[in-house]
Amino acid sequence: MHKVIFDTDPGVDDAMALLFLHRHPAIDLVGITTVFGNASVETTTRNALFLKRSWDIAAPVAKGIGETLDSERPHVGWPTSVHGDDGLGNIDVPSEIDLPLDPRPAHRFIIDTVRANPGEVTLVAVGRMTNLARALRDDPAIAALVKSVVIMGGAFDVPGNITPAAEANIHGDPEAADLVMTAPWPVTVIGLDVTMRTVMTRSMLSDIAERGGAPARLLCDISQFYVDFYEQHVEDGMVVHDSCACAYVVAPDLFRTRSGAIRVICGGIADGQTIQKPDGRLFPPNAWDGLPSQRACIGIDAGAVLSLIGETL
Ligand code: BDR
Ligand code: CA
Repeated sequence: MHKVIFDTDPGVDDAMALLFLHRHPAIDLVGITTVFGNASVETTTRNALFLKRSWDIAAPVAKGIGETLDSERPHVGWPTSVHGDDGLGNIDVPSEIDLPLDPRPAHRFIIDTVRANPGEVTLVAVGRMTNLARALRDDPAIAALVKSVVIMGGAFDVPGNITPAAEANIHGDPEAADLVMTAPWPVTVIGLDVTMRTVMTRSMLSDIAERGGAPARLLCDISQFYVDFYEQHVEDGMVVHDSCACAYVVAPDLFRTRSGAIRVICGGIADGQTIQKPDGRLFPPNAWDGLPSQRACIGIDAGAVLSLIGETL
């Protein structure tokens, strides 16, 4: 059983990933922590509570601090054309959800839960890396206590999606992402190299809605706006970025990874770019030297991952 804290910015594909974690029999979802990204942290937290209530999820929700790690960094807007004004495909989410939040800020919730379960917790982060970075900054010793970190973000051998250099989750808080990638804990990065190849068609989505009961029908409604957006860009369906990271937790064999230290460019025209120094390649002294080797995902069995997601949902 994998104990998972899901750090998320719901977000349409985040909603699918959340239902995957909730429904997969090998996952014990122990917490949901929210971060800004697809919308403000107020909106993503409201959305997390809405999904928790709609799907009867037991895990508590802890709200993140709505600021980048470096508070001087200029604010990047919300991608309303991708996820809708409400972050959940404009389905009319109620403005307030009558459910309590965990009293702790997200990063404190992460620290406490990791410390209470040494060696057992997997952090799955599919928004900005802000909460993980704050947790590390406040309590660096948790790096040795976390089982693993799985990130949706970055682009290694392919272009970004927010600039030619950068993917949105990393671009939204590069200083946080650099701290997370270079910390001494085992990180696997599931980036655009593989997620852009993992496209769920409308017919797969309708099949899920038919077979998965009311929760899957709600997910299907939420997804329509996002499918419309992706169909203009990828042709035949929705890219299931965040579910790929969740699938990796239970089925790593469906992915191919490359090992090496990873840095994030902070500033300049390549702000938010992720660059790996593959293990075994020799260079003169550089900014990757001495850092932990992490895994960047460069291959995926997309058909098998989509089937796994479909069967689970
Ligand atoms: C990432 O950005 C968001 O739009 C998605 O939820 C995903 O986490 C993809 O770049
Ligand atoms: Ca996300």
